[in-house]
Amino acid sequence: MPVPKHLTVNGVRLTYDDLGEGPAVLFVHGFMLDRTLWRDQVRALDGWRRIAPDLRGMGRSEAPERGYRMSVYADDLAALLDALDVERTVLCGLSMGGYVAFEFLRRHRERVAALVVLDARAEADTAERRSSRNDMIARVRDGGTDALTAELAAKFLAENASANARRRLADMMDRSPVAGVVGALEAMRDRPDDTPFLGSIGELPTLLLIGSDDTRTPRASMRAIADAVPAATFGVVPRSGHLPPLENPAEVTDRLRHFLDGLRAPEPSADLRL
Ligand code: MLT
Repeated sequence: MPVPKHLTVNGVRLTYDDLGEGPAVLFVHGFMLDRTLWRDQVRALDGWRRIAPDLRGMGRSEAPERGYRMSVYADDLAALLDALDVERTVLCGLSMGGYVAFEFLRRHRERVAALVVLDARAEADTAERRSSRNDMIARVRDGGTDALTAELAAKFLAENASANARRRLADMMDRSPVAGVVGALEAMRDRPDDTPFLGSIGELPTLLLIGSDDTRTPRASMRAIADAVPAATFGVVPRSGHLPPLENPAEVTDRLRHFLDGLRAPEPSADLRL
């Protein structure tokens, strides 16, 4: 893997990978994960500048005690792009990273050349889910992140996930600081309903992927996003639960490469401005 880099932007020290040259692709990981979720894709996608940060409070990035919101994660990413001199990017988010991607689009639309969302939903939390977030927050405050790790790991991966995927997931979860986990749970609990916003995504080239065995994201939720976004392509990644980049990396890399190649097809629209 590349040697991780560090930058202080938007008042927080972020760790990130930045590899290759070409139009930028920004990878945004999900809850209790970090940039290494995208390790195989970051390694493989030659011809693109692959930027994969740890969100604030996760991985090796700084974990302030409070102040976590989707808008803050999105502004961190915009500030990181500024610091790296990247004007526009393909934006690729998984699960909570998808929620961040929607918020980034809402706030920094002009910087997004194309969108990739994996295993995320547009709906806000239901009352039941909000209460389960509160329960998790209490458990983590009392007993640390171990209180969640085993339970969530079992829910994230398909039953037949490889030993390698299990080990990598455990490593990411073990690196998650309490303040960042609590903050992310609060930010997810309080995030807006993105459903009304979907219509405004318009003709932005969009790829939507979900693991064949994802039990965390209802497939109907991803289909609803596809229905609302005219330019979206929807696909199911076989042999995968909630974390396709980790569970079926080759397939995700191939689909991403195909999508990215399409953005560079002859005579791309001037609007794409990769
Ligand atoms: C994630 O993987 O980021 C989370 O499962 C998202 C969520 O809990 O809503």
